[in-house]
This record gives sequence, structure tokens and C-alpha cells, in this order.
Amino acid sequence: MAVDPLIELRDVNKFYGQLHVLRDINLTVGRGEVVVIIGPSGSGKSTLCRTINRLETIESGHIAIDGRPLPEEGKGLAQLRAEVGMVFQSFNLFAHKTVLANVSLAQLKVRKRKKDDADRRSRELLERVGLASQADKFPAQLSGGQQQRVAIARALAMDPKALLFDEPTSALDPEMINEVLEVMQQLARDGMTMVVVTHEMGFARSAANRVVFMADGRVVEDRTPEAFFTAPESDRAKDFLSKILKH
Ligand SMILES: Nc1ncnc2c1ncn2[C@@H]1O[C@H](COP(=O)(O)OP(=O)(O)OP(=O)(O)O)[C@@H](O)[C@H]1O
Ligand SMILES: [Mg+2]
Repeated sequence: MAVDPLIELRDVNKFYGQLHVLRDINLTVGRGEVVVIIGPSGSGKSTLCRTINRLETIESGHIAIDGRPLPEEGKGLAQLRAEVGMVFQSFNLFAHKTVLANVSLAQLKVRKRKKDDADRRSRELLERVGLASQADKFPAQLSGGQQQRVAIARALAMDPKALLFDEPTSALDPEMINEVLEVMQQLARDGMTMVVVTHEMGFARSAANRVVFMADGRVVEDRTPEAFFTAPESDRAKDFLSKILKH
């Protein structure tokens, strides 16, 4: 049981047309907690993440961040997107802006920081993700792993209350996966609240407080990594684990 809930979903249902993609989702993420979401393709993991910062609307249920219902639109929504950052599989950096400018941009536009302050903060964050020396390059001059770390620095620049990661390493060459996971591990140790959709079971085992297993739009299991990996309860989870742990 989370003592200090930061993200709460109650009886959340979402449809795409006839397709019932999220079914009675109840999920609480405590402040400082790391929750890894796993499950088969199409089970609703990305959709779940996207509802939390309202990139997707829901048909019924309630979602609250830090005790406040999600804002529907306008300023409140921009504020929410800053408070709950998201890191995607594709890094979505601006190609024609330097790394530094990419990290500073939303600080100027959303946080209304002065350029010097934003750039100073950006350099600190680039240092934190191991990219201090790359600040003046353009995204195309960086490896995929480096670009993803820039995307993480950019999300951190908003001083988010929580970060959502949707398969942040899936588009990366194998040798670049660890450098991104290490940054995420460090964030977890620093107490960042994180919801992470990933197939990296090593990360789930070492960084997650809980593993949430989804299938067919439902939360089927929500347990500690230890309990989940050593003794999955549902047939769906057993089947899933036997497939992914094989390779
Ligand atoms: N914009 C959309 N319009 C209609 N259907 C959608 C849309 N986005 C997702 N879906 C469907 O909703 C279901 C859940 O999709 P979602 O992307 O959340 O799954 P996922 O668990 O993230 O899968 P994957 O592991 O492949 O990323 C799938 O059946 C998918 O085809
Ligand atoms: Mg997905």
C-alpha cells in the first residue's frame, strides 16, 4: 500500500470506438515509487501511460495527480504536462536546435525562465545524464542512446513530479540500452516517481518497487518484482514470462 499517493487511477475505462482498451483500471503510484508496467503487445500499456498526462481522454473513472483531478484543458493541462513528463520510444528532439536549446526550450516557454537560467539548468541536467560535452551539438550528431538521454534531461528540466517512460530503450541498439537504463536507475535512486513501460526485466527487478502486469486492458497482477518474477499467479503472466525470459 502506498502511503503517499502521487498518481491515482480509480475505475478507469477507455474505449477506442468499440474497442475497450482500459478496463476498470485501479492503480496507485506512491511518491518516490517506481512502477514497471509489462504485458503483451496491445494490452493497453501505452494507452495507460497516455491517460495519466491526458494525451488520451477516458470514458469513465477518475485520475488524480498529487490529490488533484486531471485538468481538462487550457493552462491547467499545460501545467500537468510539465508536472508529469513523458519519455517516448522515439526521442522527438527538434532536429534544427542544439542539444542545449532542446533542453531549454520548454523552460523558456512553459516555465517562463530567463534564457541564462534555463541554459544553466540545462547544463546541470546534461551533466547529470552524462552529456555535458554534447551541449552544442545537434541531435543528428548524437547516438540514439545519447538522444534519449537528452530527452530525459528535457523532461527533468520541467522539475516534474513524476516521469512516464513508454519503452524508452526499445528503439535503441543493444549497446546503447544500458546507458539509458543507468540514467533511469539513478533517477529512481534519487527518489523520482516513475511509471516505466519496458521489456527490460533486469531494470524491473533492480529498480522497480512494483511490477504491474497488464493483459487485455486489465491490471492482472500488481506485486513486488521479487514476488512477480519468482511466483507469477496468473496463467497470462506465466505464459508471458516464459516467452520473454526464453531469449
Ligand atoms: N489511436 C488509436 N486508435 C484506435 N485503437 C488504438 C489506438 N491506439 C491504440 N489502439 C489499440 O488499443 C489497444 C491497446 O494499445 P496500446 O498501444 O496501449 O498497447 P500496448 O500495450 O502499449 O502495446 P505494445 O506493447 O505493442 O506497445 C491495441 O489493441 C491497439 O491496437
Ligand atoms: Mg505500447
